[in-house]
Amino acid sequence: MRLSSEQLSNYERDGFLVLDGFVAASECDRLRARAGELVEEFEPGEVLSVFTTREQTRRSDEYFLESGDKVRFFFEEDAFDSGGRLVKEKARAVNKIGHALHDLDPVFGSFSRTPALASLVASLGYERPLLVQSMYIFKQPAIGGEVTCHQDATFLYTEPLSVTGLWFALEDATQENGCLWALAGGHRRGLKSRFLRAPGGGTRFETLDESPWPTEGLVPLEVRKGALVVLDGLLPHLSRANRSPRSRHAYTLHVVEAGAHYPEDNWLRRGDEMPLRGFE
Ligand code: FE2
Repeated sequence: MRLSSEQLSNYERDGFLVLDGFVAASECDRLRARAGELVEEFEPGEVLSVFTTREQTRRSDEYFLESGDKVRFFFEEDAFDSGGRLVKEKARAVNKIGHALHDLDPVFGSFSRTPALASLVASLGYERPLLVQSMYIFKQPAIGGEVTCHQDATFLYTEPLSVTGLWFALEDATQENGCLWALAGGHRRGLKSRFLRAPGGGTRFETLDESPWPTEGLVPLEVRKGALVVLDGLLPHLSRANRSPRSRHAYTLHVVEAGAHYPEDNWLRRGDEMPLRGFE
């Protein structure tokens, strides 16, 4: 599954590439079923305490910051009432699972390491790709949260920049249920910020370019179930809230080049006992 020269030139022009039908419908269903099992096995009580204690900020930061080599569950903001109580069943309350499904779960592991994906990534120019992060995103009916405009390289920074996002539609994604939107060609504008671990704990943004995001040029990436969207790490993209009755499940993988420097103060970090791996 190497990309053609036409696909590569479109990708270089736009900063994204849609590959319809990359994943068989049955594989999409297998991932959705597995995510459902993981949520079923997940006991939210302890996690909810993380988000509802007086030390909320510190503890939720820790829960997030320690998730780089774990399978952890994050909730939709609108799944809670004003008193911090969960008002949805857990299967309708989880926003995402992250960030090492691809290394810790056999179903997501085998999906993430196929010859087709390895050759696609090789054709993007990677020599020694590393699968740095995975997320299962639910974009729940009615309460699926907005993701504001960002570049993935803000969160997965390397020197030189090397991150690419692989976004798999496990259900049809439309404007109604909160599809991706991309600023076509916006990957040529440079990196606007970095998201870092702050020295005293927690996280912070470091601004590199103060200019606001352009307000024009956003295009909706409405795709069918089974599509793969390849996203340049510098491409500005977002997704709007899902107020529809339909979910918009997606699985994402992020790849970086092993030869690039991965700074210590990146938010996503792993223990030495679980080093990053490529497609082998
Ligand atoms: Fe993103």
